[in-house]
Amino acid sequence: MTLIIAVDGPAASGKGTIAARLALTYGLPHLDTGLLYRAVGARLLAQGLSLDDEAAATEAARGLDASGLSDDPGLTTGEAGEAASRVASFTGVRSALLDLQQAFAAQVGGAVLDGRDIGTVIAPDAPAKLFVTATPEVRAARRWKQLAARGSDISFEDMLADIQRRDERDAGRGAAPMVQADDAVLLDTTDMGIEAAFDAARRIVEAARAKHGL
Ligand code: C5P
Repeated sequence: MTLIIAVDGPAASGKGTIAARLALTYGLPHLDTGLLYRAVGARLLAQGLSLDDEAAATEAARGLDASGLSDDPGLTTGEAGEAASRVASFTGVRSALLDLQQAFAAQVGGAVLDGRDIGTVIAPDAPAKLFVTATPEVRAARRWKQLAARGSDISFEDMLADIQRRDERDAGRGAAPMVQADDAVLLDTTDMGIEAAFDAARRIVEAARAKHGL
């Protein structure tokens, strides 16, 4: 067994930062799977196509070049996140992105992946699984601060509504809904800063390593 670390959870829960720091700590490659869905949504928007067009979204997912996505600032916007959440509900899109994610997870030596369905669908046998969450209000406040620092003038109320709409869509969809895997450890970061959250995450991974002899 290799050290696959699955980090799932809703938007702005801290899962991305936690996953990146776990990857650094354990010297493992990291895949932010949200970027894949963001790239598919952004492609449709750039081509002027409807986000309801499953055939076009599936084609965009099949043709996706996953390299360099983390360097694309256009994928970090709220608009790209919303578009991602819309196309992520299509079965065709999810199955087109499955092999790429499973191949990443299966790398010799292990990997860290963060998303919504890593512990349930992409890597159900991962020895270390975390479900990172926080209240919608705290998550909205974190995202709002980030966007305000970048010059966005979105109100906190609109940010909270965006987060709640995205949670509902991600958790309510038929295809690979966002849900805590039975064997994932819940990490609620509502009252934690990033250092405390990361320490808690590392303890969860250490317990999983000890349990599986990794
Ligand atoms: O995590 P991030 O905010 O970048 O994800 C954007 C959207 O992509 C999510 O709201 C979700 O709909 C979708 N997603 C998904 N499965 C994943 C990762 C992201 O459905 N593994």
